[in-house]
Amino acid sequence: MAGRVITVTSGKGGVGKTTFSANVSAALAELGKKAVAVDTDVGLRNLDIVMGLENRIVYDLVDVVEGRCRLQKALIRDKRLSSLYMLPAAQTRDKSAVSPDSMEKICTELRSQFDFTIIDSPAGIEGGFQNAIAGADEVVIVTTPHVSAIRDADRVIGLLESAEKQQIYLIVNRLQAEMVRRGDMLDIPDILDILGIELLGLIPEDEMIVVTSNRGELVALNPASPAGHAYRNIARRLLGEDIPLLPLEEDKGLLKRIARFFKS
Ligand SMILES: Nc1ncnc2c1ncn2[C@@H]1O[C@H](COP(=O)(O)OP(=O)(O)O)[C@@H](O)[C@H]1O
Ligand SMILES: [Mg+2]
Repeated sequence: MAGRVITVTSGKGGVGKTTFSANVSAALAELGKKAVAVDTDVGLRNLDIVMGLENRIVYDLVDVVEGRCRLQKALIRDKRLSSLYMLPAAQTRDKSAVSPDSMEKICTELRSQFDFTIIDSPAGIEGGFQNAIAGADEVVIVTTPHVSAIRDADRVIGLLESAEKQQIYLIVNRLQAEMVRRGDMLDIPDILDILGIELLGLIPEDEMIVVTSNRGELVALNPASPAGHAYRNIARRLLGEDIPLLPLEEDKGLLKRIARFFKS
């Protein structure tokens, strides 16, 4: 099997990378793909909590890198979806315990076992970022529609280009149509103009995420969650399906303006 390794990054912290990684991995698994979500945020792991798998961790990424266990042993299988797995980060170490070379090796192994390897990155553009992108075939940049997040995303795109990553997609998270209308957030066409990369999806602000993610419940598996719907659509786009953007509330004008710029 030659699976796809997709790194989820942003520059700025707190924009929704971990939530995205967990939910898109779950949505891909629900579509029958074998998917693993990998936490590379060594020292600050939380993908395990968002996926509700924190009580089952025995070994972690650093144990694999340092040869204390085989990769297979560190993988945790989800109880809800039999083709969903997670590889946790170490909690008690720092980012220097992992190197780009060791990540490349792990990604090669994961690529041979999984249809999709989704790598969640730490915040920042230092060593942890370099580790996270080292083995990536494709990169998803998550931003919110705020100027500071977009500026960081722009910086990250430059770094990805120097690292010769060519497949770069954009996710705009926490979109609130009302705020865009009021001019409190940057508009999607403006964001795409600034960043110049392909839009993979828009995720609405969804209070269900705030309520459920501390409990390890994944909105991607919840048919009533607007963001869950967005994550499922993103998974289907990754599989090559042509899925239109979600209407953000009932704002047809806004949707039209967004749709004009939507390529896939
Ligand atoms: N679409 C969304 N709607 C509402 N809250 C969200 C959304 N996406 C993420 N969040 C919340 O934002 C916070 C940061 O998300 P997280 O995924 O941890 O970001 P990162 O990994 O980039 O630091 C979390 O509390 C999460 O529940
Ligand atoms: Mg995170």
